[in-house]
Amino acid sequence: MQHRPRIQKGVSRAATVRFVIDGIELDAPAGESLAAALMAAGIGTIRHGPMDGQPRSVFCLIGLCQECLVEIDGMQIEACRVNVSAGMQVNRLRPMDPIKP
Ligand code: FES
Repeated sequence: MQHRPRIQKGVSRAATVRFVIDGIELDAPAGESLAAALMAAGIGTIRHGPMDGQPRSVFCLIGLCQECLVEIDGMQIEACRVNVSAGMQVNRLRPMDPIKP
């Protein structure tokens, strides 16, 4: 996925914060959804399917489909339901990682 620049005209955003996903440092406006920040950074594959290992990305963007499930501080949560914050440590799920209820 290509880098997707954010709309600039007529939009004000919070200060940029740095977070880490799989050891990669990224910057995004504080409070932006993690899913949006990843898409803006060109990270389209947010996890891999547990059964087929196929790449998955955002679908519903309202926390229902779980296609954007990630792990933050040992807890699994949908990337579209969490906001970026400074120092956030994110790990993408691998195909054999169990989905925690
Ligand atoms: S995109 Fe569906 S839960 Fe996040």
